[in-house]
Amino acid sequence: MAALSPCDPCSYSRPDQCAVVHADLDIAVNFDKKIISGTVHITVEKKQAAVETILLDAKDLTISQVSDKDSGQELTFSLGEPTEIFGSKLEIKLPTGNGKKYTLSIKYATSPKCSALQWLRPEQTAGKRQPYLFSQCEAIHARSLFPCQDSPAVKFPYTAKVTAPREVTVLMSAVRLGSDPCAGDSASLETKFLQEVPIPSYLMAIVAGDIESRDIGPRSKVWSEKEFVEAAAYEFAETEDMLKAAEALVGPYVWKQYDLLVLPPSFPFGGMENPCLTFVTPTLLAGDRSLANVVAHEIAHSWTGNLVTNKTFEHFWLNEGFTKYLERLIVCKLNQTPGYHHFLANEGLVVLRNAVKTLNNGPYTCLVVDLKGVDPDDAFSSVPYEKGFTLLFYLETLLGGPVVFEKFLHSYIEKFTRQSINTQQWKDFLYSYFSDEKSQTALNTVDWDAWFNSQGMPPVIPDYDTTLARACTELREKWCAASDADLSQFSANDLASLSSIQIREFLSQLLEQEPLSVTKLEKMQELYDFNSVRNSEIRFRWLRLGLLGHWADAIPRAIEFVTEQGRMKFVRPLYRDMYAWEEARQPAINNFLAVKDEMHNTTASLVEKDLHLKEASS
Ligand code: BES
Ligand code: ZN
Repeated sequence: MAALSPCDPCSYSRPDQCAVVHADLDIAVNFDKKIISGTVHITVEKKQAAVETILLDAKDLTISQVSDKDSGQELTFSLGEPTEIFGSKLEIKLPTGNGKKYTLSIKYATSPKCSALQWLRPEQTAGKRQPYLFSQCEAIHARSLFPCQDSPAVKFPYTAKVTAPREVTVLMSAVRLGSDPCAGDSASLETKFLQEVPIPSYLMAIVAGDIESRDIGPRSKVWSEKEFVEAAAYEFAETEDMLKAAEALVGPYVWKQYDLLVLPPSFPFGGMENPCLTFVTPTLLAGDRSLANVVAHEIAHSWTGNLVTNKTFEHFWLNEGFTKYLERLIVCKLNQTPGYHHFLANEGLVVLRNAVKTLNNGPYTCLVVDLKGVDPDDAFSSVPYEKGFTLLFYLETLLGGPVVFEKFLHSYIEKFTRQSINTQQWKDFLYSYFSDEKSQTALNTVDWDAWFNSQGMPPVIPDYDTTLARACTELREKWCAASDADLSQFSANDLASLSSIQIREFLSQLLEQEPLSVTKLEKMQELYDFNSVRNSEIRFRWLRLGLLGHWADAIPRAIEFVTEQGRMKFVRPLYRDMYAWEEARQPAINNFLAVKDEMHNTTASLVEKDLHLKEASS
């Protein structure tokens, strides 16, 4: 398949000809019909005088009318044949005249199968009182929420007015200006929002539900159903410290508010960096702040990703690799345990090896990927995160260490703030920043083509200091070397001095070895009782070890875990492991078919491919 446009393989838009420069949404949430409908007023700017139309992306949208906001004149439009992945091209004839800027009013409605939205019935929420709606637009689902130039190359500020039943609170990826009763409709409230900073369409977000908030810092609240507010406030209490640490590294936080929203369990990601309001999975609520690095990660996106944005999702590593790098710097500013940075980097390397293996060293293991005809959800993996991180860590070592490289990072943000860039632009800036002869010589030793375009593991792997992992490694080696006939050397005490993160490391290391015997798994359960651990990262790894070791006990527990929460990072590998083991395959498929209508659309459609019930794109 060819690229949809010369600007972006995944978008029909042509921002080089005519670009969206502002959006104003006036929409209503209808829980009964499971649709959002209303008008979006988009201001567009001609980039070429001869241009007569604007091209937008639209997916499963009903467009009922388009007009020129100023004159009221109706405008002709056409909606192209839809493709399953990318939706349709929406072409609108611009008002005649020799103006440069126009505001177009598009009356539209979403469809109940909108891929950006999940609609939950009251029974599917913790409180069971009200329905719940949330969005997830990254990478290319914004086009199913409103007609837009759904390419990260296009950035625009927005305002919004959202009408919804008065029992629910509405929030967006913007500053909330306030709520008012709706004229002529006492059952509804309208809430207004302002996002002054230009954002790409994938950062558009909305939530509506029976949620409450608690202050956790001078510019931060945590939002969730009331059942989780206390736990969430405790878990994410380090938020302000993290924001300050990030500001010290990369400059002022420009988004004014930094709130967190804890979603229902079906939220497909760990976190999503929606501006002013990070979305997070409830699987982070471990009770001991051990999973708060995800918050550091989403905070980091306030600079890497949300200020400096990948121009297309082929350069997604610029978003996620840089964010991983900044995340680990923030985490290490808060926790100054010597060697911690290397411990985390090494953990990332294990994640990378795992991802490369899962992807069979295939095309999605390149740092810069080819997305022509590809659904970015299919190409998603840990590779852009961890291969990107590895490249930055390697460059840090090559160019003079952390202090020097942190300064570069700050300049990079300043240089490209509020822009969208590709890999070449980043590389050009790197060369111009490190212009002294010694740095240039060092840079010229980098095999850029291999880093950007080769499949598999990176060409250079830094030598991480593994001191902090030593206790985990020793215990892992003991278990691997032991014979099933004599496991008496192990005791419940083995874990006494290990932190939650070290236990996770121990299990991760075991996952890289040959599967454990059922005898060993049973002994581990007897001594360490991992079945009772609620920490999602530990539970996930323990379940995988069980499935890979063909321990029948693990099947019902894995099924329980993939059903009670929908974070793809956990759900997909567990379903794949179950598929790969004959004894677990049918139970997994049966469970999936039974619950798929309750699942998030994206998760369901990817798991369907993992279980070979449907073909993947490309
Ligand atoms: N932006 C991503 C989530 C995402 C990526 C959604 C691509 C849709 C398409 C977010 O910042 C993220 O990376 N989340 C991670 C956090 C982790 C790396 C700390 C997650 O969800 O696990
Ligand atoms: Zn991220």
